[in-house]
Amino acid sequence: MSQLPNTLIIGKVLDHQEKCLSTNSYAKKLIAKSKPLEGTVVITDNQTEGRGQFGNSWQSEAGQNIALSVIVYPKLSAVQQFYLSKVASLACVKALKNITNLDFEIKWPNDIYYGNLKVGGLLIENQLAGSQISNSVIGIGINLNQEAFDNLPQAASITQLVRYVLNRKKCTAILLEHLDATYLMLHQGRLSDIDSEYHECLKAYQSDFKFKENRVAKTGFLKGVNTQGQLEVIEDGKERVFNFKEIEWVL
Ligand code: BTN
Repeated sequence: MSQLPNTLIIGKVLDHQEKCLSTNSYAKKLIAKSKPLEGTVVITDNQTEGRGQFGNSWQSEAGQNIALSVIVYPKLSAVQQFYLSKVASLACVKALKNITNLDFEIKWPNDIYYGNLKVGGLLIENQLAGSQISNSVIGIGINLNQEAFDNLPQAASITQLVRYVLNRKKCTAILLEHLDATYLMLHQGRLSDIDSEYHECLKAYQSDFKFKENRVAKTGFLKGVNTQGQLEVIEDGKERVFNFKEIEWVL
């Protein structure tokens, strides 16, 4: 990457692979054989077996998008692990706003949306040592210049929104700079600042939204996301909390 990010922690080491099965898997292999510098970024132009959340695959056309993974050693307990998702998704939304001047949103738990279109996603993989996180791989996929998505009606790319071709290296540098800033907030223990910035970008925050629980369609009021990353919903006047996969959004 010739366009180096201007950062303190993230992207001081860039491991660029022309082709790679999955940058998350590659980063995890690096961790298994050495102790990579905090903030090491594994980035590829052609991810051939990208992995998504919940065991799904993540398709990305060669040379068109951002696919990268960042290795970090956050000082967080296991119950605080969702803060990594909060800082990474916040960085994506802020970077995309910076690049396009459009307002993107975080769809809980790990998706980046513009309106009802998904433009990116996160796959965060943590290794625990007892009750603490020993290392994390923050995988980020952003659809930048891809023009077509087979059988994914909700998927879109930034170029489809703005109608120009984006400079991938420049966009990657901007993304890493934003991640550096939001990750620093975590380093500094500014958890309540992260919470409030996160909520500002959260899709359907403090409004009614439609979801399905055990395939039953429901409407609830989205109160927020708690410190453990659970979705707080008010349904029929009662407050409930949901873990990942316990509800399905209806967009
Ligand atoms: C999702 O929405 O399901 C999450 C997608 C995460 C994709 C990124 S691309 C870079 C990194 N490497 C992977 O194999 N996956 C993540």
